[in-house]
Amino acid sequence: MSNHKDIWFQCETIIYSQVTLKEKMQAICNLLGSQMPAYDWVGFYLSDVKNKKLYLGPFYGEPTEHTSISYGKGVCGQVAEAQKTFVIDDVAEEKNYIACSIHVKSEIVVPIIKNEIVVGQIDIDSHTPAAFKQEDQQMLEKICLEIAIYIE
Ligand code: SME
Repeated sequence: MSNHKDIWFQCETIIYSQVTLKEKMQAICNLLGSQMPAYDWVGFYLSDVKNKKLYLGPFYGEPTEHTSISYGKGVCGQVAEAQKTFVIDDVAEEKNYIACSIHVKSEIVVPIIKNEIVVGQIDIDSHTPAAFKQEDQQMLEKICLEIAIYIE
């Protein structure tokens, strides 16, 4: 059974490995999606800062039709504007929400911030209500802090 510390160490190894940014992101998605039991969909969105849009990058889980999201729309779009992590314990209660699957019950979206600009984000969906705790948020924020170094 993996814990957050083990997963974080594995993420650090991935982040500092000699592969492309896309490969790092895909490896992190695969690791989190396969090792964290409540993480049912894990994806990176990358910002088009000028046009205020998010574009889907590497992901783990079912394909989604939401490959581009405007700033302000859904949880992802709100995070891009607010520049802070959103934890949604019950997506049915969130009014500004874009549903990717009827099975999703909770969600966390963590911004990747570089030079005070949101350059991307990690989005994780769970079929379990209130799946994301403080230790999940802390681990994901550390991942975003480190991966930001490699985003142009
Ligand atoms: N639920 C997100 C959309 C992305 S999917 O979860 C993959 C939102 O409300 O922005």
